[in-house]
Amino acid sequence: MKKIKHTVYFLCLFSFLFSLTNCKGDGKSEKTEEEISTTKSEIDFLSKENYGTTANGEKVEQYTLTNEAGMEVKIITYGGRITSLKVPDKNDEFEDVILGFDSLSQYTSEHPYFGALIGRYGNRISEGKFSLDGEQYQLPQNDGKNSLHGGDQGFDKVIWTAEVPSDSTSLILKYTSKDGEMGYPGNLDVTVTYTLNEDNSLDVAYEAESDKKTIVNLTQHSYFNLTGNFEETILDHEVVINADEFLPVDETLIPTGELRKVEGTPFDFTEAKKVGKEIETENEQLQLGKGYDHCWVLNDQSENMHFAASAYDPESGRFLEVSTTEPGIQFYTGNFLDGTLPRQGGEGTYAQRSGFCLETQHYPDSPNQEKFPSVVLNPGEKYNSKTTFKFSVK
Ligand code: BGC
Repeated sequence: MKKIKHTVYFLCLFSFLFSLTNCKGDGKSEKTEEEISTTKSEIDFLSKENYGTTANGEKVEQYTLTNEAGMEVKIITYGGRITSLKVPDKNDEFEDVILGFDSLSQYTSEHPYFGALIGRYGNRISEGKFSLDGEQYQLPQNDGKNSLHGGDQGFDKVIWTAEVPSDSTSLILKYTSKDGEMGYPGNLDVTVTYTLNEDNSLDVAYEAESDKKTIVNLTQHSYFNLTGNFEETILDHEVVINADEFLPVDETLIPTGELRKVEGTPFDFTEAKKVGKEIETENEQLQLGKGYDHCWVLNDQSENMHFAASAYDPESGRFLEVSTTEPGIQFYTGNFLDGTLPRQGGEGTYAQRSGFCLETQHYPDSPNQEKFPSVVLNPGEKYNSKTTFKFSVK
């Protein structure tokens, strides 16, 4: 394909354009028209632009992947975040279905992990404590007394190094987390590859290796709203979760260790059900999560790709299917969004339940729960995980 032969030339062009268009370096992270250099018109499926500079003077780039059908995904090197994902509705109208912001400074400010890659440990670890071979480790307690999503400077807040493979349908992001970073043992080399396929699916493939025994649980934290209209909530989306059991939590959202049947509870999504149908019902678990904020135990526990969940918006016809190699999925209905964060592209704010996350992962607090599948990574082993988000219309 023509995109292959142009890659080397355009990588050179990128470097040249960036040398001309470096940011102000004054700590301000806003992008301006002049700062943006895009080669979109010359490369068919991949382009890159300057997205701004963090307060620490680190440059952030935004990559855009496009396929023949016109699906478009934008990813920034700050946190490996998906900032925009445009897919067609039943009338072939393309709209963004991922909650995001307009500028880097908003991404670097306080907010709940919009679009981000999460690591070293997606989800919660009780009191931020775990031990390996008798040695106890203490992680940052950044969620009450627990550790959440890798600590206060997790993989969502680091700058990833981007590489573009020769077929230009993928973006490869690399990050090395140092031994002791956020309290975790071992130098961990992480590679995340985003691949946009011609069938309107986006693969997120994770690999990691450590030089010491450690724990790893990587995931992606995009908030979806398939209506394409972020003024609407996601309560009318019809969701399926391929799980007969879920993990009940305590008042700090740590799993109790029980695997509870979903049958006869509001947690039963084995058949398509509107998110809003039972979210407000009297249920101790729903009250603890302020809605759905739980990990489901997927029926297929194999490491082969298996169907995990789907979401359908009847109004737009957009349909999202999630498959994964992971044993669990955290279904989070944006319960803590509180109308304070600005919506992208203009006025208004993100209201409660204006987006949902489907975070494929190992179970929360696994290092402290012997019965849960292991998250331990030994030196010499390779951590491999893959999730596919496939979009279509019904
Ligand atoms: C967690 C929520 C949390 C959200 C944002 C989700 O993965 O399950 O409890 O509020 O991330 O931090």
